Amino acid sequence: MLNILLATQSTINESRINTLEGARVTVLRAFESPVDIVKRAAVDIVLLEADIEMLRAVKSADPRIEVIMIGATAVDVVAAVREGAYAVFEPLDITTEVVHCLEQIGEQMLVRRETAALEQVLSSKYTFQGIVGRNPNMLEIFNFIRRIAPYFRSVTITGETGTGKERIARALHEESPVADQPFVALNCGGIVRELIESELFGHMKGAFTGALQDKMGLFEAAGQGTLFLDEIGTLPLAVQPHLLRVLQDGSFRRVGSTQPQTARCRIVAAANVDLQEEVKAGRFREDLYFRLAPLTIHLPPLRERKDDIPLLIRYFLERISAKIGKRIAGVSRPAQKALIAYHWPGNVRELENVIERASIMAGESFIQSQDLPPLAAANATASANPALSLEAAVKAHIEAVLSQCQGNRSRAAKRLGISRRSLIRKIDKYQLP
Ligand SMILES: Nc1ncnc2c1ncn2[C@@H]1O[C@H](COP(=O)(O)OP(=O)(O)OP(=O)(O)O)[C@@H](O)[C@H]1O
Ligand SMILES: [Mg+2]
Repeated sequence: MLNILLATQSTINESRINTLEGARVTVLRAFESPVDIVKRAAVDIVLLEADIEMLRAVKSADPRIEVIMIGATAVDVVAAVREGAYAVFEPLDITTEVVHCLEQIGEQMLVRRETAALEQVLSSKYTFQGIVGRNPNMLEIFNFIRRIAPYFRSVTITGETGTGKERIARALHEESPVADQPFVALNCGGIVRELIESELFGHMKGAFTGALQDKMGLFEAAGQGTLFLDEIGTLPLAVQPHLLRVLQDGSFRRVGSTQPQTARCRIVAAANVDLQEEVKAGRFREDLYFRLAPLTIHLPPLRERKDDIPLLIRYFLERISAKIGKRIAGVSRPAQKALIAYHWPGNVRELENVIERASIMAGESFIQSQDLPPLAAANATASANPALSLEAAVKAHIEAVLSQCQGNRSRAAKRLGISRRSLIRKIDKYQLP
């Protein structure tokens, strides 16, 4: 609701202001002073006759009130703006311009109000260890983590790329009684096969060419803390039995050693592929899968928790504003609508990237639709054909983004919110040009 006080004799077509969405117009009566009204009642905007003294009085009564001055010829425009007038108009037939101006202020006030409300929400129960979420599934995940954190030995996190698996892994560690111990991460897909075993379990001097001295592995480095095994689905088959053994009886051996050691750390594994599919395809051992599966946290894709989007936007704006040194107050409604409608194949990471880019692009302190990349177009490709399977839609989307980026893989990867390496893997998988 937008409360407008009409304190001007000018030829303004009141009925047009009255029909503004969410506006409630009060007309000042002859014997009243605008200042008395704003002190007494909730007023958001005052349309004021050219009177700098009155402008000053209204602003000092409540600086949040926006004042539109009518009578540019009778008033020192520069002085009026300096005193905080939102706009100054000629006293002729100005209804259209005033209505436009009111719409603008109304929009900004609504965004500001929503922002204030969201900020309150963010500082409360909807952030958990730096993870934002109000969607019931996310709240359930937060609860689940609180419940298991004191006791778990191993947990598996699944979810599409960019859904926040690493964040959740850190939360599991932070909530656990071993939060003061190391959190050690290994991306199983980011390391050459030959080195993984030695990376995980360590090796003895001379165990293989290049093993010039004894080396401790990550299981030892993690101590009693948490070892995070990212992209567990890419763990080479040859190494999988060793991991299974640690999970079963806590023992492992450095490469080239016969001396068994005991692993004390907790294990959090993450996968952005369907491990069951990997088992079927013969790339993942079934026994290891069954050992990892019982405690699984599945992070839903962002398109299935759109109620989190406004909150996430708010959260990212805050952080990005600080990072780039530009205060962005909010997102215009049409832009927010577009952001909510989009299907986010790169999930939260893609949203973060889009908000960062838009914050840099934004001319004023609000993100407008034109500051966003063409989200609707990408959305249309995938939803144009609802019969498409998810795989086919993903393929079509990647293809569309690649062509939008003129085949520039780094740029396309950024747009999609995935790493360049994982884009290349998908290009191979879908045999894209
Ligand atoms: N719920 C959330 N609240 C705040 N930030 C989030 C949330 N989810 C994800 N992020 C942020 O989004 C980005 C991607 O998250 P993260 O790296 O945890 O995803 P991931 O599931 O591990 O992705 P990938 O499978 O591609 O490795 C990070 O910058 C992370 O901080
Ligand atoms: Mg990750």
